[in-house]
Amino acid sequence: MTKIAIIYHSGYGHTAVVAAQVAQGVTDAGGEAVLLKIDSAAQDFSAILDEATQADAIIFGAPTYMGDISAPLKAFFEASSKVWFTLGWKDKVAGGFTNSLSFAGDKAHSLNSILTLAMQHGMIWVGTGLPPGAHSNSDAAPDVVNRLGYYVGVATQSDNASPEITPPAGDREFARLYGIRITEITKKMKG
Ligand SMILES: Cc1cc2nc3c(=O)[nH]c(=O)nc-3n(C[C@H](O)[C@H](O)[C@H](O)COP(=O)(O)O)c2cc1C
Repeated sequence: MTKIAIIYHSGYGHTAVVAAQVAQGVTDAGGEAVLLKIDSAAQDFSAILDEATQADAIIFGAPTYMGDISAPLKAFFEASSKVWFTLGWKDKVAGGFTNSLSFAGDKAHSLNSILTLAMQHGMIWVGTGLPPGAHSNSDAAPDVVNRLGYYVGVATQSDNASPEITPPAGDREFARLYGIRITEITKKMKG
């Protein structure tokens, strides 16, 4: 079975919802989703690095904090230099997602940090493959898929409220469709 690792941090549970939706998409496309949560920048990352190395694709996610990925994912990225030395993730499919409070909030910078890490490892990046969902204020409803108009990876927005209700339905579906897309592309690449 095509195994997709989803490695993410979430301080307050909103990015965890997005990660779960990406995992749902992987499952819906017939893949095996392995959700791997990073708890702190100071943890031992060995088990997560090993799981990732066994996967066919790796999708990385974090909230945007101060205009970039949160520190625990960055610490994991630095720990992945151990794998970089052995080219252990070379030619694996990669993708990324981020969630934040503002509609923009500098989320593009976070996605570019994830993309750069994937390129340093020689991975094969997959973007969202979806057009922007909104071209005017009136179409930017919470149930619109890709309402923020992102191509590089999935960007979602959550209000200052419980992760049970935010990010909204369109963002959740955007994440699920990305899980499907990455699984389908990974399957094709495995032949
Ligand atoms: C330290 C910190 C920095 C933040 N910086 C940003 C930011 O740069 N842009 C933004 O839109 N939201 C920012 N936020 C809001 C978070 O992105 C938002 O609360 C998000 O839902 C958190 O995701 P999580 O629940 O997965 O931790 C910040 C929050 C914190 C705690």
